[in-house]
Amino acid sequence: MCAVQKIAEGELSRRVETKGQDAIQKLARSINIMANRIEKIVLSTQALSTNISHEIRTPLTQIKIALGILQKQLYNYDNPDVTDKIDSIDEDIQKIDMLVGRILEYAKQDLIEFTEIKTAVCLKEIILTVFNGLSIEINHKGLKIDTQWETLNTSVWANPNSMHLAFSNLISNAIKFSPNGGSVELSFLDNNKHQTIIRITNTCRPLAYDKFEKIFLPFYRGTKNGTEGTGLGLAIVQKIIKNHEGTITAQEWKNNDRILFEIVLPSISSGLIK
Ligand SMILES: Nc1ncnc2c1ncn2[C@@H]1O[C@H](COP(=O)(O)OP(=O)(O)O)[C@@H](O)[C@H]1O
Ligand SMILES: [Mg+2]
Repeated sequence: MCAVQKIAEGELSRRVETKGQDAIQKLARSINIMANRIEKIVLSTQALSTNISHEIRTPLTQIKIALGILQKQLYNYDNPDVTDKIDSIDEDIQKIDMLVGRILEYAKQDLIEFTEIKTAVCLKEIILTVFNGLSIEINHKGLKIDTQWETLNTSVWANPNSMHLAFSNLISNAIKFSPNGGSVELSFLDNNKHQTIIRITNTCRPLAYDKFEKIFLPFYRGTKNGTEGTGLGLAIVQKIIKNHEGTITAQEWKNNDRILFEIVLPSISSGLIK
């Protein structure tokens, strides 16, 4: 069943061998049906129907049910080897569920490009909420957080949910990839009243120079470092920022012991956005 793990890691063309015991065969078939659907949706240029979630999550629910039945059946046989394997499939299914959620978020960004409702959004409020929500991880790793607001106006013309998603991806990455005792710095600048610039930097393992563009590609994961992830976070962020007529770049910072993300958005007063 290591194919399930591969699917969970984003190798969507992998399939599970469908032989063996009846219940296992049924499970393997359902997994393959689900993988077919995920792959089709990802490859399809029009991956965007409201049915997507239903289409993928239905077989996923069936898999969970089949797994539950199997778990019960095997419980009586007292075979720790097999139950361990079932538990690990269960974990992989959770990962696939998470992956499906991320793929949907990613695909949704294309759909909402022209339709999402934008209002004046206070980014400072969003950013502080995100940091607050991550305070357990921050304390656990002993990270130092430094925020600087060099402007009174921290609002932009945006969709609040999308901005929350973007900054929660960026800030949770900064926390995830910082070593224990490291630091995260965020500064907010207002450039000529036309652009709002947000800089986020964190301590991290040095990144090769050719990686700074690659990290925005869907499914690209550089420093796995025992961390959980799908490699879709920054791809989602980039789409959100682009949908708001902005840009995001990554570069090395301070002799490559930090990474710097710079987000440039049109200022609310710039008149660039209707
Ligand atoms: N703040 C950061 N510090 C160091 N490396 C980062 C940071 N954010 C992203 N990366 C690198 O970019 C890759 C892609 O990030 P992302 O798309 O969010 O995927 P994920 O978090 O699922 O690994 C990460 O695997 C990591 O190598
Ligand atoms: Mg991430």
